[in-house]
Amino acid sequence: MSGIFCSLRQLSVTYRRGKNNAAALDGIDLDIAAGERLAIIGESGSGKSTLARALAGLLPEGTKVTGEMLWPALGHPPRPGRDFGFVFQDPGTSLNPVLTIGEQIAEGARRHLGLGWKRASIRAEELLGRVRMPQPDKAMRAFPHQLSGGQRQRVAIAAAIAARPALLIADEATSALDVVVQAEIVRLLDGLVREDGMTLLFITHDIALASGFVDRIAVFRDARLVEAGPVRSVLSAPVSNYTAALIASHRDLATPPLIEELAP
Ligand SMILES: Nc1ncnc2c1ncn2[C@@H]1O[C@H](COP(=O)(O)OP(=O)(O)OP(=O)(O)O)[C@@H](O)[C@H]1O
Ligand SMILES: [Mg+2]
Repeated sequence: MSGIFCSLRQLSVTYRRGKNNAAALDGIDLDIAAGERLAIIGESGSGKSTLARALAGLLPEGTKVTGEMLWPALGHPPRPGRDFGFVFQDPGTSLNPVLTIGEQIAEGARRHLGLGWKRASIRAEELLGRVRMPQPDKAMRAFPHQLSGGQRQRVAIAAAIAARPALLIADEATSALDVVVQAEIVRLLDGLVREDGMTLLFITHDIALASGFVDRIAVFRDARLVEAGPVRSVLSAPVSNYTAALIASHRDLATPPLIEELAP
């Protein structure tokens, strides 16, 4: 898949029970290229998850949406669950506590790829291998509470990619993990999207974490898109003071050696 995956034109979103009727997203113009890894950065409440929900058609009923969302690379209106996969901060919300790991991953493959249970289970075990789950055959029969946080996040990623989505949306998918596990999950996501040519939307408040592996960064603040560009240019020459302050708050990003290292 090449070209533009998704084009947002003056996209605005206002929740029915929002704060003083303020928009959660306000006039967003953004193109997401097919196959790119795009980080959505911004402080709490800036509209990052709202963007993810808008893209996925998961906004609550009664939410006012204006502007346009176009999907040139798909060639058809997006089918949630099939064209998009999601990984959230807390896999507890996406994993079902009473189903085995195998059942929940197989369910996505069964429902969206039309596989029978047996083939879907084989695919589930393969997926557990792909997300580097230790002992995939054993993990198939485990329940979510029997796994560590990092392992649960691996399962959530396997479930998210079960239907071979074109777009993977990771919303603070590593925020609840310690730094070592965080780095492992980022490496895993990076590898998977490269291998499958998926487009990745990596939503995080951590500009340093994202800068390590994405192609482009889009910075949000107070419902608006502050700036968007390739990682190198945003880090070395941010357009807005807000982005400059974000970069400055990470000593490892703001120190000259890294920026020089990143320069072409
Ligand atoms: N279902 C909802 N109903 C009403 N207002 C909402 C709803 N969801 C989010 N909001 C409001 O919309 C704004 C943007 O929220 P959003 O969840 O998109 O922020 P965020 O950038 O993802 O924040 P965080 O980093 O804390 O996850 C906030 O003011 C929030 O309170
Ligand atoms: Mg959020």
